[in-house]
Amino acid sequence: MIFPFNTRTEVCRKSSLLVPSILLTLVILVLFIVTWVMENSPMSGLNTIDESHEGNKFEYEQHHDHNSVVDVQYIVPKALLDVGVYKEDEDFENERGIKPTYWRFNSSLSWGPCLPPLTPIKQWEDRRNYTTSVNTESTEDFDYLRPIFQQHPPTSIHSAVDQSRKDYKSRQQQLQRGGGCRPGFLIIGAGKCGTSSLYHYLVGHPRVLPAFEKQIHYFKYHLTKPLGWYFSFFPTPRSFLEHGGLMTGEASPGYLPYPQVAKDVRRIMKQQPHHDLPKIIMVGRSPLERMYSSYRYNYVYPTLEYLRKGRHHGIPKDLSDEEYEPYLFSLEDFVRSELAQLKLCLNWVDRNNEFHKGFGAQMTFDQWNNQAEFRDALMKRNQNSSDAKDGPPLIDLDGSCYGSKVSSTVLRPQWAELQTQNTEKVIVDQNLHLTQAMIGRSLYTFPLEWWYLVFDQTDIFFVCTEELSNPETMRELALNLGLPSYNFSQVVDEGAYNVGGHRGYDKATSWEELQAERGGATMDAAKNQTNGIPITPSLYEELQEFVRPYNERLFQLTGKRCQW
Ligand SMILES: *[C@@H]1O[C@H](CO)[C@@H](O)[C@H](O)[C@H]1NC(C)=O
Ligand SMILES: *[C@@H]1O[C@H](CO)[C@@H](O)[C@H](O)[C@H]1NC(C)=O
Ligand SMILES: *[C@@H]1O[C@H](CO)[C@@H](O)[C@H](O)[C@H]1NC(C)=O
Ligand SMILES: *[C@@H]1O[C@H](CO)[C@@H](O)[C@H](O)[C@H]1NC(C)=O
Ligand SMILES: *[C@@H]1O[C@H](CO)[C@@H](O)[C@H](O)[C@H]1NC(C)=O
Repeated sequence: MIFPFNTRTEVCRKSSLLVPSILLTLVILVLFIVTWVMENSPMSGLNTIDESHEGNKFEYEQHHDHNSVVDVQYIVPKALLDVGVYKEDEDFENERGIKPTYWRFNSSLSWGPCLPPLTPIKQWEDRRNYTTSVNTESTEDFDYLRPIFQQHPPTSIHSAVDQSRKDYKSRQQQLQRGGGCRPGFLIIGAGKCGTSSLYHYLVGHPRVLPAFEKQIHYFKYHLTKPLGWYFSFFPTPRSFLEHGGLMTGEASPGYLPYPQVAKDVRRIMKQQPHHDLPKIIMVGRSPLERMYSSYRYNYVYPTLEYLRKGRHHGIPKDLSDEEYEPYLFSLEDFVRSELAQLKLCLNWVDRNNEFHKGFGAQMTFDQWNNQAEFRDALMKRNQNSSDAKDGPPLIDLDGSCYGSKVSSTVLRPQWAELQTQNTEKVIVDQNLHLTQAMIGRSLYTFPLEWWYLVFDQTDIFFVCTEELSNPETMRELALNLGLPSYNFSQVVDEGAYNVGGHRGYDKATSWEELQAERGGATMDAAKNQTNGIPITPSLYEELQEFVRPYNERLFQLTGKRCQW
């Protein structure tokens, strides 16, 4: 840093503004001294460390500068365990004797969830250019981290557990961005079942660090990008150390429905050191409630928005919601048409207990039996007449049941009648994967079966939405993930996340408010018989009958029974 004192005072004299110039000089001088003192004071530790090591290996300050390239030698310090912060026996044993995924102590290949040296790391906006080339030979590099931890020991495990740092946003801001650490859990869905709440509660555990985005959807939409791009959404090793973190993770409800995603998560994460895998978490809600929620959030609200903006030819813009009602299909419309389609696709049992085989089993077989992970199960369950002990046929609901566009006016076979007979009504061509499957995406067992083929049973956790508000549910889940016991009561008391559509993202709605809304719904006599779901009682009954066996299968598969 060179300050042009002489030049500056020359200019000032000439302009004869002597007093201001002296003041300016003083201010600059003071700033200079303060900067120098700060950079050389042991209090600022990281810069000191930086100077005592050649080059810019550890320029944490640069993390704040989005445009700079930061060459971080990532942390693999078995030796650091000896500093006394992360100890094998005391700190990693939870009450169940379960260790969080990735934590091992006999290798220097990685440090917990964090990867060994990465070269070079680009910042936040430049994720596309991340790389994960691993340099496994330079374990010596980690020695330089020792003094950092001696001077700035991370929050100790036990004191961390005493604190609650539940605020997602402020927590996020405390973290160093730029990642390098792997997710210890993936909340894979289901959509509209409380994935946001579950995620916020989990990162409310003092040892769980949030990702920079809750939904990354790497394994569904971004696989062409390097894995380093994905890891860059997670906190840095330094954040892990400073916060006493044991785990980070993400919630992408678009993962659950796709067999390919299950396969890719395993394949890609297995390539990482130790071949450990993230834990898989799924949350499931009463199927009919989820269906209604999906109708509102995936159909009604986006369609109203679309119409209000005047984007539909022939329908005036800026009308009230009531005025747009004639242009919308009812939930009843959607449910009847989808139910008929699903019955054709799935194996189903009619009122006389007669079994019918749908087209989905064969179609799914044809599509997936060339995949080693799935072949055996498909042979047993889809080809040979279904033997109860092997489980019901595997169905790729999304890939097999709904078909594709029939014409520019008929977007799915199931809507052929609806769309040709109600040409004034609108289905927007965007959310089709969601609107086509309002019931389908509530049949959680179908997509989850594929995850069970790819992951160990013990690595998949299933939570009932109605139990999310119970702190004990969260404590159980955390213990099973290998985290220390934690009382989630304060975290859960914040309310439910991302409900009510218009309340804003990552915002909690209090339980009282939700209760009041539910109470309101049951007061409505017309909706009473159908639990507040706006369909006719006979259709409600039929749907309940239809989903029951699939719920049962789900409970059998997961070993967990919900209240629906
Ligand atoms: C070291 O780790 C490997 C797996 O990477 C494991 O199989 C082995 O049992 C471990 N050894 C010890 C002594 O913990
Ligand atoms: C990423 O890398 C490519 C080629 O390696 C380069 O052309 C591009 O400018 C880089 N992008 C950024 C944002 O640095
Ligand atoms: C399917 O059934 C046939 C005969 O019923 C049997 O030979 C074959 O092994 C079965 N295949 C599988 C994958 O179970
Ligand atoms: C958790 O904390 C709440 C108060 O914040 C308390 O009422 C509850 O008993 C605690 N639960 C356990 C299991 O300690
Ligand atoms: C409406 O629901 C409430 C509570 O769910 C129940 O007590 C009441 O009997 C119901 N009324 C009718 C007319 O079904």
